[in-house]
Formats: sequence, C-alpha cells, structure tokens
Amino acid sequence: MAGSVRSAASRENSVRLLSDGRLRHIAFIMDGNGRWAERRGMPRRFGHSYGAAAFKKVVRYCGDIGITCVTVYAFSTENWQRPEAEVSSIMKLLVEYLGECERTADRDRLKVRFIGDLSRFEPDVRDRFTALEKRTADHERELNIAINYGGRDEIVHAVNRLISEGRTSVTEEDISGALYTAGLPDPDLIVRTAGEYRTSNFLMWQSAYSELYFTDTLWPDMTDRDVDLAVEEFYRRKRRFGRV
Ligand code: FPP
Repeated sequence: MAGSVRSAASRENSVRLLSDGRLRHIAFIMDGNGRWAERRGMPRRFGHSYGAAAFKKVVRYCGDIGITCVTVYAFSTENWQRPEAEVSSIMKLLVEYLGECERTADRDRLKVRFIGDLSRFEPDVRDRFTALEKRTADHERELNIAINYGGRDEIVHAVNRLISEGRTSVTEEDISGALYTAGLPDPDLIVRTAGEYRTSNFLMWQSAYSELYFTDTLWPDMTDRDVDLAVEEFYRRKRRFGRV
C-alpha cells in the first residue's frame, strides 16, 4: 500500500513538472537486455523479450505523464554483428510490435515513425512501416523507433542526399532537414540504462544540447519510477544552450 501511494505521488510529481512543456522529447538507449538474461541463466533472447515488454510500458507511461515524443534505440547499424540467432530474435520482436501497432496505434493515439536506414529490411516490411507511418500521422503521441540506425550513417546519408540535390554548401537547418528525424524536435533528455556512460552513435547531431541521464537499472527492469527519476533529474538541470 505504502508503495502504491509513493508511486502515485511520484507520478503526480512528474505530471506537475512536465506541465511546463520543457521536456517534450525523451530518447532511450535501451541497454542491458543481455546482462539481465545472463544473470538469470537465460539465453540473451529472453532479455530482449522482457526488454520489449519494458519498452511498451515505458512508452505508455511517458504518454500518460505528458511526454509527447519518445524515441527508442531498438537496433543499431552495428547490431547486425551479433550472432544471427540474437539478431533474428530482435527482428522477430520488432515485426511482432509492428503488428501490434497496426492493431492498437489508433486506440493509443501513437504517431509511429521508423528512423534509420530502412533499405536493409524486406520490401513487405518496409511497406508496412510506411503504411503505419501514414495511417498514424495525425496522432498526438510521437513514437520514433530507431532501427538499423547509426548517427554517423544518418549524417552521411543526409549529406549525400543534399549533394544529390545539387547543393554545394549547406546550413545546419539543411542537415537537420535531411536527417531521418527531420521535423522532430531535438531530444531534451537522453536516458541510457545499464550503467554505461556513452551515447553509442545515437542521435549524434540531434543531441548537441540534450541532457544525458544514466541509470544502473537494466532495461528490462525499467519501471515507471525510473522514468520519474529521470524526469526529476532533468528538472534539476539548468539548460543554458551555450548562453549564461
Ligand atoms: C541492448 O541491450 C538492446 C538491444 C540491442 C536491443 C533492444 C531491443 C529491444 C528492447 C526489444 C525490441 C524492441 C522493440 C521496439 C519491440 P544489450 O543486448 O546490448 O544488453 P547487454 O549490454 O547487457 O548485453
């Protein structure tokens, strides 16, 4: 009982803090699935499966407390180098989630977007990505799923796109507008789980002024309370964007 009173208070506090609209976009580096499974003597794919469950809870909770834009790092350009069975298990979870979104995104008001080099996916899956993006485009809760994503790859892709359009010089706005994330606000806060202190090629351009928050919690253990703690920490920070 005391625990549920505490978590209601923690949630209420987040809702109160977020009402000023300063934290619009939160991005998660969902790390620690493998360690979570290994510590339980399970194959790593179980960690990803529990990680997918945690992801759904976190996305829902962020929307409920008033964060309008969530981005997750689900699969990096480097993750293809993992054992084939592990890659397949993550792809299976992604395709399952795609199916789930096709059924529930209207109800949940999710505006889903897939960011990354999607050319590596099968044409039928790519068509489903595009159809879901189009169908959910007027929803309010933005969910961006980074797959086959790398920050450097994204910048190279953007620059090549601008060159192919005949550009010989570019502005920051041109590059921002040619990234996979074009049109999204930059992340205000990036949360990385599992006690690693780096950003691993995630949103390199967009994170120039993001606040970074690291927690030891392994991603499958991520709870509403962990999100509240990240929100509280964000509101303790003074963001100066290079000014005084
Ligand atoms: C990092 O943990 C996690 C990943 C590479 C995959 C993330 C995938 C999911 C959470 C599930 C699928 C997602 C969706 C959107 C349905 P790690 O394996 O590197 O953990 P470790 O550092 O402990 O080994």
